[in-house]
Amino acid sequence: MSATLAEVLTVEHHAIDAGIEKFVAASPSGNVREWAAPLTEAMNALRRHIYLEEELVFPQLRNGPLMMPIMVMLNEHGEMWRRMAALDEQLSADDVEHEPTRSTVVAECSAMLELLDNHNSKEEPVIYPHLDSDMDDDSQAFLRDFLTDGTTPEGWEPARAAG
Ligand SMILES: [Fe+2]
Ligand SMILES: [Fe+2]
Repeated sequence: MSATLAEVLTVEHHAIDAGIEKFVAASPSGNVREWAAPLTEAMNALRRHIYLEEELVFPQLRNGPLMMPIMVMLNEHGEMWRRMAALDEQLSADDVEHEPTRSTVVAECSAMLELLDNHNSKEEPVIYPHLDSDMDDDSQAFLRDFLTDGTTPEGWEPARAAG
């Protein structure tokens, strides 16, 4: 039997956490940017995860008792998005003067992990049980296809990107 959608999305949560933790656990000396691959991969995975929740999952569930919890999820996605943009900026500035220190980036990562923990600990028990029971069959099939090889559309932003 294949994994439920709830299981698949929970696995994504853990993989994203693990990528950030891998970056934090590495002890880069020298340029932090050279060590950033697990972090940038995790951020790309998180962006896609936020995209699929906001575009493929939440619209199916938001009419009813989940309306309020989904509002909370959208606000938190917005905060994650802004934090990722700030981290990206630090990691991509190409001048030495703005080279990020390890401690700055690690502090950002810790804040991100805390935000993710707080978010996922609500999303998993409150929203995810509805994925497999309340989404229609076509939407479930579309989501499964997207999970296999879908990508975040260029320029897409979450509903609450601006706060
Ligand atoms: Fe989420
Ligand atoms: Fe999620």
